[in-house]
Amino acid sequence: MKSGTYNGKDVPSVVRQAITHHGDSREGLVPVLAEVNRELGYLPAEAMAEISQQVRVAASQVMSVASFYHMLSTKPRGKHVIQFCDSAPCHLVGGAEVWQALQNELALEPGETSDDGKWTLLTTSCLGVCGVGPVVIIDDDLYGNVKPDQVPGILARYL
Ligand code: FES
Repeated sequence: MKSGTYNGKDVPSVVRQAITHHGDSREGLVPVLAEVNRELGYLPAEAMAEISQQVRVAASQVMSVASFYHMLSTKPRGKHVIQFCDSAPCHLVGGAEVWQALQNELALEPGETSDDGKWTLLTTSCLGVCGVGPVVIIDDDLYGNVKPDQVPGILARYL
């Protein structure tokens, strides 16, 4: 991999573009991080250093914001990111069995990425759609009322 390039994209230009979209004030920090994360797949140290400089926020603060938000990652993630809701309402309607089915298919612990780089498995708190629990989000797709036996078929939709 060429230095300064991730996902085939040049880090400084991705950062510059995000700052053009969201501004270089502190208020723009989270949207800038979110856009860079989306473009590069995660937030490499080089991108965070660049953002820290351009938005004039200490590197330690950029890091703590990047670690706080679930949608942001300081580690490379898989091609597809699975978010599993592990809050109580989803748990009560069968979430544990769905989690078990995900485990059977992927054998990943929360936060882990598969060796082939295809999947990252995350747990998350309530996604605000408890009425259709158990809930799983894969990339931008939300699956509600998930049954354990549907899990292999859902995963198979992603190449
Ligand atoms: S508890 Fe799962 S979406 Fe609310």
